[in-house]
Amino acid sequence: MSRAIVDAGSAIPPVLPQGLETPCLVIDLDVVERNGRRLQGELDARGVRLRPHTKTHKSVAIARLQLELGAEGLTVGTLGEAEVMAAAGLSDLFIAYPVWAVDAKAARLRALHERSDLAVGIDSVEGAEHLARAVLGTRPLAVLIEVDSGGHRTGVGGPQAVADLARRARDLGLNVEGVFTHGGHSYAAPDAHLQAAVDETTSLGEAADGLRSVGIEPRTISAGSTPTAVEAATDQVNEIRAGTYILGDRQQVILHGSPADGVAAYVAATVVSTSVPGHVVLDAGAKTLTKDRASFLEGYGAIPAYPDAVIERLNDYHGIVRIPSGSPAPRLGEVVAVVPNHICPVVDLFDSFVATKGPEIVGRWPVDARGRSG
Ligand SMILES: Cc1ncc(COP(=O)(O)O)c(C=O)c1O
Repeated sequence: MSRAIVDAGSAIPPVLPQGLETPCLVIDLDVVERNGRRLQGELDARGVRLRPHTKTHKSVAIARLQLELGAEGLTVGTLGEAEVMAAAGLSDLFIAYPVWAVDAKAARLRALHERSDLAVGIDSVEGAEHLARAVLGTRPLAVLIEVDSGGHRTGVGGPQAVADLARRARDLGLNVEGVFTHGGHSYAAPDAHLQAAVDETTSLGEAADGLRSVGIEPRTISAGSTPTAVEAATDQVNEIRAGTYILGDRQQVILHGSPADGVAAYVAATVVSTSVPGHVVLDAGAKTLTKDRASFLEGYGAIPAYPDAVIERLNDYHGIVRIPSGSPAPRLGEVVAVVPNHICPVVDLFDSFVATKGPEIVGRWPVDARGRSG
């Protein structure tokens, strides 16, 4: 594996503020804003709406910023995330997930539907039946049919399946608003994004025709992953739901989802042991960095100030970093910035983050939807 690929996410060492209590999550709002403007500008130029996925930051304040920059509504992954955003007055919400609305979840979905402008993903008749039952007696609930564009996770395959599900959903009293897909196979390899974007737009174009074949003109045709966010913004789609673009992370730089200056979030960690030769140990382990590691990455995060260092093992509270012989190593007690491999699950491990503008701390902001995984 070449160092260029391994370390692409660590190109620009950040200047960390002094006096941080580690481990902590640091988010540079200047970079957040630059990332937000960059994608919003790209999509505005193509006449495609942005509905950012809030699972990345789980922060009401960052969601507000995205809306101020021009986003039209928010995407969420769970009822819990939707509840947090709606409670803060951000109520144009799409749950891009096949919510299984039974028992307590049915009651929560109904309550949310009554006080927000909600749409929900479906990929089965059974799921749609539960949704229809949950909102019975209220106004029609908007649904979008999920299409599998190659990620093979959720979503129906092909225009006929879309047409069949749309007909059934409409008969159940649901308002079929459109179709969506997540080209998750854009994460498979550094250059997978180009084909994944083509797959997203092709499947969505066919799916939209599937809706038209049963007399439904789709209002929303929605693609979305950060690596494909720009390439999928063609005239086959009218909405992009990228999420990770706003914070960036090590794998996004390699996957073409973020430029090298697009990493806004770091974990600050202290070197707590140098007893074992060839290693230093950080106070950031699996409960801070997660064990998320794509096959094309070496180690569990990058340390931009020490590009040769490899975070090769994690225990709950220990990050064991190999320092190749002859390479510089951080000293005992030094605080280093770590770029996580995948920022979304890392954010969810913190109650709050240190908000900075460059090296200056401007506040401590809550991770409002932390732990709201259902
Ligand atoms: C359904 C759906 N839409 C949008 C996104 C956002 O994609 P990304 O994290 O690549 O920005 C995701 C991410 O998992 C997703 O599952």
